[in-house]
Amino acid sequence: MITQRPKGTQDWYGLNMHKRTIIEETARKLCKAYNIKEVITPAFEHTILFQRGVGETTDVVQKEMYTFDDKGNRSITLKPEGTAGAVRAYLENSLYAESQPTKLFYVTQAFRYENPQSGRLRQHHQFGVEFLGAAGPLAEVELISLLTNFMEELGMKEAKLHINSIGCKSCRKTYNEALLEYLKKHEDALCPTCRERMLKNPLRVIDCKVPSCKVIVKDAPRTVEYLDDECKNHFEELQELLTTMNIPFEVDTGIVRGLDYYTKTVFEFVNAEGFTLCGGGRYDNLIHEIDEKQDIPAVGFGFGIERIINELATEGVELTSEPAVEVYVGILGKEAKAAAYQIVQKLRKAEIIVETDYMDRSVKAQMKYANKIGAKNTVIIGADELANNTVRVKNMETGEQTECSLDNLTELFIK
Ligand code: HAM
Repeated sequence: MITQRPKGTQDWYGLNMHKRTIIEETARKLCKAYNIKEVITPAFEHTILFQRGVGETTDVVQKEMYTFDDKGNRSITLKPEGTAGAVRAYLENSLYAESQPTKLFYVTQAFRYENPQSGRLRQHHQFGVEFLGAAGPLAEVELISLLTNFMEELGMKEAKLHINSIGCKSCRKTYNEALLEYLKKHEDALCPTCRERMLKNPLRVIDCKVPSCKVIVKDAPRTVEYLDDECKNHFEELQELLTTMNIPFEVDTGIVRGLDYYTKTVFEFVNAEGFTLCGGGRYDNLIHEIDEKQDIPAVGFGFGIERIINELATEGVELTSEPAVEVYVGILGKEAKAAAYQIVQKLRKAEIIVETDYMDRSVKAQMKYANKIGAKNTVIIGADELANNTVRVKNMETGEQTECSLDNLTELFIK
């Protein structure tokens, strides 16, 4: 037990860690080009932030949050997602007083007490972007184009963009009435949670994962049929922009997303099996709900880093492998240790990847080790080499050996 990690979590090391680094670096590089700045918020927040932001009737708040009282009897929750914390930080630090929009990205762990089946973890990691203070559909397009570029750079080909509009507060009111009327006719077939939550927030029933509810939901009224003029225009303009930009998409009227804060546009990138890799949308009321003095529109997305890693494997995409050790510097004899180590340091200062001996191994054992770790070249430094200021550099692939002055060693490896 003591050496076993908790269910639904994972350790990051080796190849998976390397893949995660590439994914994060690719997304960070794109954010730089889009002038999106990083934000880091705490791993936990006051529970009320998620109750208010994510929504009391969502699965996340009702069933999945890691909530506890701290030693000062405050109710604390490990963040189940990144948006609410980013919005809290935007408000608390008055970022809205700066030129708008505020464009933020984050890499965060997220905690949800889910059934750990394939693709569902209790601690997962999200790369997310939030545009706060951006009202027009070009903001959605910008986020979607960033995601499209991200997937293209990684070599992913199968993820498809699905979009929908769930309208604003006023269209939601008429829609909720129609939906409730429909659901009431099928109440007996709904799961107990949906029977309860359809009265408080019928939209949540659309997102229920229980199979019997899914059957009922299939023929339920759709949000797009109840959009007011402003929401309809917003959705149409978004589709026109995506079409002009040659970004393929499909309108999927079944998407409502599992968190309460969404308004107007919602979107997902789904893989060939229909599994969601990335989800996002507009949330024009969330900021006001957290701080009623503010009324600021916003839009964002989050993708699961683990889901992208799985998708890359499913699609057979090989990422560039970790850079190899350029040179292994072997040490011969105690007297040479300090001088050899100085050479190691000099090479590393020039950003050359160097490995050396920390175990006082024999030269034979050092060469065996260098071979095992895949070092491209080796040199052995002993008293003679130091006295003559010369080393033999062995190319481990060809076996070829060349003499090099110690003064020129760095230049030899700088490409
Ligand atoms: P979400 O759809 O709940 O949205 O999560 C975003 C992504 O995180 C999912 O598409 C999925 O890739 C990944 N994910 C979610 N739950 C798990 C899990 N249990 N295990 C593994 N991966 C998971 C949000 O969290 C919103 N904050 C996204 C957003 C940002 N909307 C606007 N701004």
